[in-house]
Amino acid sequence: GAAELGPYRHYMQKEIFEQPRAIGDTLEGVAGITPELFGDGAWRIFKDIDNVLILACGTSYYSGCAAKYWLEDIAKIPTQVEVASEYRYRTSVPNPRTLVVTITQSGETADTLAALRHAQGLGMKHTLTICNVATSAMVRECELAYITRAGVEIGVASTKAFTTQLAGLFLLTLALAQVRGHLSDEAEAQHLKAMRHLPVALQAVLALEPQVISWAEDFARMDNALFLGRGLHYPIALEGALKLKEISYIHAEAYPAGELKHGPLALVTSAMPVVTVAPNDTLLEKLKSNMQEVRARGGVLYVLADADTRIGSSEGIHVIRMPEHYGALSPILHVVPLQLLAYHTALAKGTDVDKPRNLAKSVTVE
Ligand code: G6P
Repeated sequence: GAAELGPYRHYMQKEIFEQPRAIGDTLEGVAGITPELFGDGAWRIFKDIDNVLILACGTSYYSGCAAKYWLEDIAKIPTQVEVASEYRYRTSVPNPRTLVVTITQSGETADTLAALRHAQGLGMKHTLTICNVATSAMVRECELAYITRAGVEIGVASTKAFTTQLAGLFLLTLALAQVRGHLSDEAEAQHLKAMRHLPVALQAVLALEPQVISWAEDFARMDNALFLGRGLHYPIALEGALKLKEISYIHAEAYPAGELKHGPLALVTSAMPVVTVAPNDTLLEKLKSNMQEVRARGGVLYVLADADTRIGSSEGIHVIRMPEHYGALSPILHVVPLQLLAYHTALAKGTDVDKPRNLAKSVTVE
């Protein structure tokens, strides 16, 4: 009811603003990296596997897509990510040395549970879930678990569950890196420090809300939007597009920026805003040339840029500068302005933010 909402108009807005608390709680008590964070016997299991298969649906699938970049980069472990409803019905090549990782807010999504059981049926016995509900079927059926502490999520469009999943997946990456000999004590200390700083960093990103509201006023008049990202931020672009379509009903799609020229560039006009997730990583120069391609076709850019990027606002380019550098944890911060963009666009359009048409919070039947 209204009392629970406090100063917020919708659960989704409340849940977006709860993220500093949700991430803080999810990482509370993590004094150091150890496989046992995922349950008794995790060390032996992590020693026994040589690849990771992530299975999930919806927003949880996108957190898995981001985790693939971490797992291969930091833990050096081959990783596949697959939509649960596809995996459960296709013929795949099972490998008993796979760690099957399911990601699910509810722990009750029918396709994700069926995908887990399918993998088990193929002889893959090492299973781990990143889940927000400790008493769920998923937690009962997996060998190992990390319980995120987002708290109850009411808005159908997932927000705090996503960022806490990323926090859990980052811990998993570090634990696997440790077991595989790719985590020095210095690196562990640095990563832990960056994780502990996340609640403060998230507060600084939430303070960008007024700038995002001015973007949302433009988006509310549009029928289409394109989201671009590269590398670790491509899954964030996917999640930003999903949020916008779910609650504002604007057709949105996301592309890895390098694919622009292979199709979506044909759609770019002044009626197609292009959101670019552009942190100052090694691909920035390439991303800048993708942005010029958009400008040359009259497209209007909305850029989430890093603190010290040299991209500035100009005709047709709207820049929001992120407060600081976040390194490997950058996706957790960059998704927040995209959540706010979807929220404020939906608000401007007057849609039912917490209960978008045709969608359910938890899809427990196929
Ligand atoms: C539904 C919800 C999404 C969620 C997805 C997967 O589609 O509307 O917000 O991401 O299910 O749910 P899960 O509980 O498995 O994360």
